[in-house]
Amino acid sequence: MIVEKIVAGGYGLSRKDGKVYFIRNAYPGEDVDIRIEKDQKDFVIASVERINSQSPYRRKAICEYFGTCGGCEWMDLDYRAQLQYKKEIFLDQMKHAGIDISPSKIIPTSEYNYRNKVEFVVVNGQAGFFGRNSHRFVEIEKCHIISENLNTLRREIKDLRGFSHLVLRDGIEKKMAIFVSTKMREIPNSSADEVVSLISDSKIVLSGRQRTLKGRGYLEIKINDIVYRIPPKSFFQVNYEGAKILADQVVEYAQDGKKLADLYCGVGFFSLQLAKKFEHITGIESSPSSIIEARKNAIINEIKNLDFKVGRTADFNLKGYSTVVMDPPRSGIDRGTMQNILNAKPERLVYVSCDVSTFSRDARILVQKLYNIKDAVIVDMFPQTHHFEIVSLFERVI
Ligand SMILES: C[S@@+](CC[C@H](N)C(=O)[O-])C[C@H]1O[C@@H](n2cnc3c(N)ncnc32)[C@H](O)[C@@H]1O
Repeated sequence: MIVEKIVAGGYGLSRKDGKVYFIRNAYPGEDVDIRIEKDQKDFVIASVERINSQSPYRRKAICEYFGTCGGCEWMDLDYRAQLQYKKEIFLDQMKHAGIDISPSKIIPTSEYNYRNKVEFVVVNGQAGFFGRNSHRFVEIEKCHIISENLNTLRREIKDLRGFSHLVLRDGIEKKMAIFVSTKMREIPNSSADEVVSLISDSKIVLSGRQRTLKGRGYLEIKINDIVYRIPPKSFFQVNYEGAKILADQVVEYAQDGKKLADLYCGVGFFSLQLAKKFEHITGIESSPSSIIEARKNAIINEIKNLDFKVGRTADFNLKGYSTVVMDPPRSGIDRGTMQNILNAKPERLVYVSCDVSTFSRDARILVQKLYNIKDAVIVDMFPQTHHFEIVSLFERVI
């Protein structure tokens, strides 16, 4: 089968007998034989059985677990080609949404060792990952996309019997090891500055009762002139270099003004970066623990023109806010929130997205109803994978 192009989800797309084939790990221009994984009415999900004619951009992946471990599905693709394909995926999605826009910049980050957080599954006392779409466990000695600090820490921690997960976070100056189990266990030795135990049997790995066994119970990281506290269970951008690029782009697009609303604000990442530019900022977030951290982050940075509210973004009254920053989860902007925006009609929207499919769906609604899309950039927060971040600026037309 000849691969026509690359599409969202990172699949190579091919067509035969009226059916669309989504082929994992197949690149444009290649001729491949496939193995069918899922056969639906009008599309097929498949993987590559044999490459008959290979893309000139293929390379040897540097990782010994490539193909067996679940991550890094594009590691056998030249990095410049990865960036080019991310751009093509963006363009393809926007074309389907009927929006004529090309990203004004595609910003790369370090190709390897960029992740500041890793979640290992523990099987028979060993830490590793499960293969993609499989329950095959792969013990991992070294991961090329996590920081060297985290690889060193991983090697030190030997016997993990009795634990379900090991999560490591790198705060650059300090490292945190989080041991997850259903009952209190003896914690293996390591050089981690912060050692935390989570007692949990939930499917959500970073949940449950927390005990700090060493250190202060949080990491601290500085981005631009803002210090953020990162406790074990809180979301934080996994690529610090990329996080700075996102923050700078959001600040540039948002410009300045009176009142800004930061929807889906997490621990206040964007709000704090924007505080100098606006008279007042309100952050809205559904997770109460993130809001507690956001408030602490405002205090440690001595920033007073911010308030953080626990709640759903659909329910927050946006009247009077001229600028809105929004960074929703993968599912994109929920219906209620979209209606809320269309009712309140802020002049400027800065939309940060980690999912191009939901982004294009939402952009279509905004453009059809009230807004022009002025600019968009791609930030490659996740090299070696098909994922990327979009930062975009919408301005009200009428
Ligand atoms: C992609 S994270 C963004 C976090 C933050 N902007 C940052 O950069 O760290 C999305 C956040 O939206 C929150 N969230 C999800 N649905 C929500 C809703 N309906 N209302 C408010 N917050 C929501 C999640 O808890 C999560 O913290």
